Amino acid sequence: MESEASNWKKTKQPRSKDPIFHPGFYSELPLLLTKVEGAYLEDGKSLSNWDVFCHSIGCAEGGDNGDIADDHYHMFMEDIEAMHSLGLDAYRFSISWARILPRGRFGEVNPAGIKFYNKIIDNLILRGIEPFVTINHNDLPQELEDRYGSWLNAEMQEDFLYLAEVCFKSFGDRVKYWVTINEPNMYIELAFEQGVFPPSRCSEPFGNCVYGNSDVEPLVAMHNMLLAHGRAAKLYHEEFQPKQGGLIGLVAHCFMFEPITDSELDREAAKRAFAFSVGWPLDPAIFGEYPEEMQKYLGSKLPSFSLEEKKFMKNSIDFIGINHYSALYAKDCTTSSCSATGNRAIQGFVDRVGEHDGVLIGERTGLEYLFVVPRGMEEIVNLIKTRYNNTPMFITENGYSSPDLQEQRVNELVNDVKRVEFHTSYLASLAKSMREGADVRGYFVWSLMDSYEWLEGYNVRFGLYYVDRQTLTRIPKLSARWYKNFLTNNSLVIDKNASRTKRLFTKDVM
Ligand code: FCB
Repeated sequence: MESEASNWKKTKQPRSKDPIFHPGFYSELPLLLTKVEGAYLEDGKSLSNWDVFCHSIGCAEGGDNGDIADDHYHMFMEDIEAMHSLGLDAYRFSISWARILPRGRFGEVNPAGIKFYNKIIDNLILRGIEPFVTINHNDLPQELEDRYGSWLNAEMQEDFLYLAEVCFKSFGDRVKYWVTINEPNMYIELAFEQGVFPPSRCSEPFGNCVYGNSDVEPLVAMHNMLLAHGRAAKLYHEEFQPKQGGLIGLVAHCFMFEPITDSELDREAAKRAFAFSVGWPLDPAIFGEYPEEMQKYLGSKLPSFSLEEKKFMKNSIDFIGINHYSALYAKDCTTSSCSATGNRAIQGFVDRVGEHDGVLIGERTGLEYLFVVPRGMEEIVNLIKTRYNNTPMFITENGYSSPDLQEQRVNELVNDVKRVEFHTSYLASLAKSMREGADVRGYFVWSLMDSYEWLEGYNVRFGLYYVDRQTLTRIPKLSARWYKNFLTNNSLVIDKNASRTKRLFTKDVM
């Protein structure tokens, strides 16, 4: 049987004269329980690690949590209508593990959880929107943390494999795009190196945690996560793909690292930063090995794959998911003085910074580590294209949050010219890499609506739709109108001519 992969190019024919962005290209985005679903204890769902984290030590300033979030659990039909009215071709969302397997593999499948995702999937398909499903995105049943320490324990591979199997069996007849795990690299750094995400593990100089070892545990947790990915992908490729015909991938958070000076040392540092960040999950998923740079600098601390594991890790993905928001400078720490954290093997002896000689790499955004650097999109896509032999790519996240939120009034937030400029310039940069041959097959905006943003709570807003926190009413922002226009006209209007741009921005397309 011909696979979906080989059919893609045939079925997704260009619909315009300059078809760099073809149908099936555009999309919208996501979320999992903690961020949009809410209903944190309804219909048999158990507590996730994030529920417990938020309720115990308080995960975000002001005590925000995901108990209600956007109440997508009850309002999903309205949200799907919004997606449809925008003209989206696909919707990327994540499964809440604790909703469908409240006790992991130590208890029953929760039928209400399966029913909920079935309703979402069926209603998306009814409106011609492709479900693009992430199996794990930062959350897990707390029981797996309490029983054996979640990702630090190889048992977690079994639990993830079981979760993946339940998903393929329950939804795989209709879901043709799977992501095993979202951003292992970002999650592991935040949870096991900096200790700011649950289970809050770290050591000096990365942070001040009660437990943990920032130089070693991230490597162990990542190894388990990658093997969990590899086992699930093997299962999909062998048992489900032949019948169901979908594709499976892995998503990495992909900063573009630029050398802070033109010196040979900083250029090498930028390569190392890539290897220790993006290459860390992607090299094993494509080559079956950790990047050479990691092997060299980490030595025996870096776990290794057995021959059998290498076999199933290699080429375990049909596509690469790229979450790209920002570029950063890379500064060599092997010879010059650096921050205490940059000067560590686990960081590849590289400082990753947003500033050089008092000048920022790009405009600030609502998240302090993300800057607006549109050229970074073309650069990172080209790098990934070259390193991984142009494996098919999806931009699985790209988005903008405005700074100084508290100072802004609702009408300023809804009139989000900066978000429109952000997406226009990043898409233009992406188009350049595609014209140079990068096999990019889709683009997902982060995100459809304002949602619960981890440690920032509701203070950082990425949505095309504004969500009123009191009433949960969704209000389309200017960016939603712009995106709809972009999808309808199938072309990018680049902001070169102010009056033309103004016309576009003010045109009512909803
Ligand atoms: C990504 C995460 C996503 C969201 C965006 C802003 O790193 O995958 O959940 O937090 O950043």
